[in-house]
Amino acid sequence: MFKRLFSAQVAQHVRQVPHMPPPYPLPTSSRGAERRRLDDMHFGIARYMKGLTYAPLKNPSRILELGSGTGAWTIQAAQTFPSAQVTAADMSPLPENLDLPSNVKYQQMNFLNPFPFKPASFDVVHMRFVMIHLPKPQEVLSRLASMLRPGGWLLLEDVNHTLLDANNEIGPGVRELYKGYQRHMERQGVNPLIGAQLRTMLEESKEFSEVNESVIPCYMNPRSTSDPDLQELGEILKYSIDGVYVGIMDKVGPAGGITPEILRAWRNEVNDPSRDLRIDMHMTWSQKK
Ligand SMILES: C[S@@+](CC[C@H](N)C(=O)[O-])C[C@H]1O[C@@H](n2cnc3c(N)ncnc32)[C@H](O)[C@@H]1O
Repeated sequence: MFKRLFSAQVAQHVRQVPHMPPPYPLPTSSRGAERRRLDDMHFGIARYMKGLTYAPLKNPSRILELGSGTGAWTIQAAQTFPSAQVTAADMSPLPENLDLPSNVKYQQMNFLNPFPFKPASFDVVHMRFVMIHLPKPQEVLSRLASMLRPGGWLLLEDVNHTLLDANNEIGPGVRELYKGYQRHMERQGVNPLIGAQLRTMLEESKEFSEVNESVIPCYMNPRSTSDPDLQELGEILKYSIDGVYVGIMDKVGPAGGITPEILRAWRNEVNDPSRDLRIDMHMTWSQKK
């Protein structure tokens, strides 16, 4: 019953864009695995950050989440700010069986097209793990800033999608995988290393009175940190990015630059206890002038 009601609700808000190319190179059709991966990351991050964001949000009335995925952040935002109207937007519909709070509405859209929102109409815009899939990030950033009212907050968050090691040379397995992954992403016209560039982009845009960043190191080896929350987040990230590579192999094949042999060598190095491999998440929060 709820499922039917919810589907009708979604259908009401869905506006089909006539020409919608598939810009998201990762497998969204494997809803089960993709949903678990995204939800686990959301709850791991929210636990580590002890909330939705480090920005000092004070009773926002209009919140926009671009790239709502499974709806986990949107729902938590709607529950945290029950008097706010929260808009979730994505090219994929939200999962059908969500218990969606009444202050959430969903709009289907492709972010490569102009946003269907009035300028300066949101107090908060959140976009996580999406810029990495969009070409021309500077242009996207200025479109995001234009939707914020003065004093509003842009919460822009992404991974720097490569593995780093503070103490050792990167091994050939890891190097080979990222060579292929980088080529695959470049073919889509997108930048897998955008996470580490967000702060500079935000500062150079001159749209914000303050730009803040927190870098969360997600360790592949639990012994690299004594913080249990970071150990847990690292574990989640490890299986999550492994799932991304399996997805690329399944959906794109060898053209994705990742073969079973390359993935095996990557796994061996990632699980090697003598290494300190990590992937960094760059969480930014910036206040509009
Ligand atoms: C890696 S998921 C992240 C989802 C969510 N933000 C989270 O943190 O769990 C990327 C999301 O962006 C959406 N997406 C990617 N490119 C898009 C585009 N051009 N237009 C609309 N949605 C897009 C995908 O459908 C997917 O839900």
